[in-house]
Amino acid sequence: MSFPGHVRIAEMSPRDGLQNEPGPVLATNLKTGLIEHLADCGLTHIESASFVSPKWVPQMGDAAEVMAGISRKPGVRYTALTPNIKGFENALAAGVDEVAVFGAASETFSQKNINCSIAESLDRFAPVMEAAAKHRIPVRGYVSTVLGCPYEGDIAPAQVALVAKALLNMGCYEVSLGDTIGVGTPLKAKRMLAAVAEQVPMNQLAAHFHDTYGQALANLYAVLEEGISVIDASVAGLGGCPYARGASGNVATEDVIYLLDGLGIETGVDLKKLVKTGDWISAQLGRKNGSRVGQAMGGTGE
Ligand code: HMG
Ligand code: MG
Repeated sequence: MSFPGHVRIAEMSPRDGLQNEPGPVLATNLKTGLIEHLADCGLTHIESASFVSPKWVPQMGDAAEVMAGISRKPGVRYTALTPNIKGFENALAAGVDEVAVFGAASETFSQKNINCSIAESLDRFAPVMEAAAKHRIPVRGYVSTVLGCPYEGDIAPAQVALVAKALLNMGCYEVSLGDTIGVGTPLKAKRMLAAVAEQVPMNQLAAHFHDTYGQALANLYAVLEEGISVIDASVAGLGGCPYARGASGNVATEDVIYLLDGLGIETGVDLKKLVKTGDWISAQLGRKNGSRVGQAMGGTGE
């Protein structure tokens, strides 16, 4: 067992965190405020918006305004989801640094989430990859439902590996493995990762674990042992997918940083500032802070 010396955190809260909010769309200036606070905490990869259909995900309808409103910090990558070429063109015009295409290991989830089969989704991503290469925009890939699907139940690790490999072959620089509904457990996570790592180098994989069943930190510890060094997380544990019933937020970034600090793994993220940010955005949304570390540190940053 050997842990990585450094872990990169891909911060999800402005996108995955806010896309599932049930209330009115959060004001654009609060979204840009969140993004700026996160950058100030030392996060260098911030998924800031989503260029999807506003009919499907109203919370992300102001993606272009969000991108335009951010006071950018040098060294930070401001990224966005793009499901198709229309999304990519809008994202490019809005000045994103990086985009992400998102597929699934489950056929039913693919249909519910992006209204097409897995094979069709890869066809839709092809022009995105081509245009991104032309404009030198890096593309990240997601595979959803890697440890279980809300519609199909168990998913074969070989199926996850197949989709991850397809995304890599298309030109994604990294593939993020999504436990969309947070049903995984550590052994299952390790087995899934082993199957994927036969097809995609470990240093091009990321873990994107939702915490629905409270297993995300345990699962992260398990995949860190196997060599994962990129972790997706969301401040205050915000988040969920509107097309995965019952999916709660991503693992809280504060909890991940506390774990990594304790393991002596460097992240460059200031935990005290992050706790303040988590408390601030929770207050704006009128909800309890979903991070256990955030609760324990009590908003004082102590
Ligand atoms: P569709 O209805 O099949 O698309 O939706 P279409 O191409 O037939 O177009 C229909 C209408 O949508 C047209 O407008 C298009 O212009 C418009 P109309 O003529 O009716 O006025 N349209 C768009 N508008 C803005 N931006 C676009 C765009 N594309 C088409 N990019 C589509 C297909 C993919 C667009 C739709 O299904 C969609 O937007 N889905 C998004 C679902 C989503 O955002 N889910 C959450 C993110 S994924 C996630 O959370 C999982 C992840 O976190 C990992 C994990 O946890 O597992 C990443
Ligand atoms: Mg997600």
